[in-house]
Amino acid sequence: MVCLTAYDFPTAALLDEAGVDLILVGDSLGTVIAGGIDTLSVTLEQTILHTRYVAAGAKRALVVADMPFLTYEVSVEDARRNAGRCIKEGGAQAVKLEGGVAVRDRIEAIVRMNVPVLGHVGLTPQSIHRFGGLKVQGRDEATRKRVIEDAVAVAEAGAFAVVIEGVPSSLGREITETVEIPTIGIGAGSSCDGQILVTHDLLGLTRGHVPTFVKRYRDLAGETLAAVREFADEVKERSFPDQDHEYRG
Ligand code: KIV
Repeated sequence: MVCLTAYDFPTAALLDEAGVDLILVGDSLGTVIAGGIDTLSVTLEQTILHTRYVAAGAKRALVVADMPFLTYEVSVEDARRNAGRCIKEGGAQAVKLEGGVAVRDRIEAIVRMNVPVLGHVGLTPQSIHRFGGLKVQGRDEATRKRVIEDAVAVAEAGAFAVVIEGVPSSLGREITETVEIPTIGIGAGSSCDGQILVTHDLLGLTRGHVPTFVKRYRDLAGETLAAVREFADEVKERSFPDQDHEYRG
């Protein structure tokens, strides 16, 4: 499974045309799009709005809305209502939520109302403060066991697939061999059934620190800077607009 994130119509349309199977409207929008320091401030309204943009661009790919922090943790009722809003108002076909054993009843309840759920275990960014940062999970026996238990709980609860983030590749392999549902890795090695990346990372649109698991396939930040500087130079020297880009008569 080839999976990527999108937050807007043109990106979703391009990913869809390129044959991407699953488009996630990730809560990474809090950092990638809104410029925040983490994903915790993302609201359900933001997620619904961006999911609507993405759903308009995706004709074939599965659109998954990422449920933001505090939209499913407090109660099963919250989880059901907010998952339903992602489908009804956002136009998503599935929702994703983070956690394993702790959210098992939420996943079961959402699946019971016929909304497909994508799980997410391992380095779950909404737990950044419990982890003390975005740290690789499952490097010691205790946390390794916890991540496996989480993945099993997600599968047993009825999720259609599970994202495994930020774990040693040996653990990504073990979970993939253990659970019945497909696994989608991000920093979890090549044994997973699918892979997901943040599209802006893949395209080289994000600046600063590049996590080990990110491969930059292009440098669109560099391309953008060069294009904008070229435009600025041409405006200043009055060579833009030229005859090909003006109306006559
Ligand atoms: O929010 C996000 O973009 C994600 C993926 C990268 C898995 O959760």
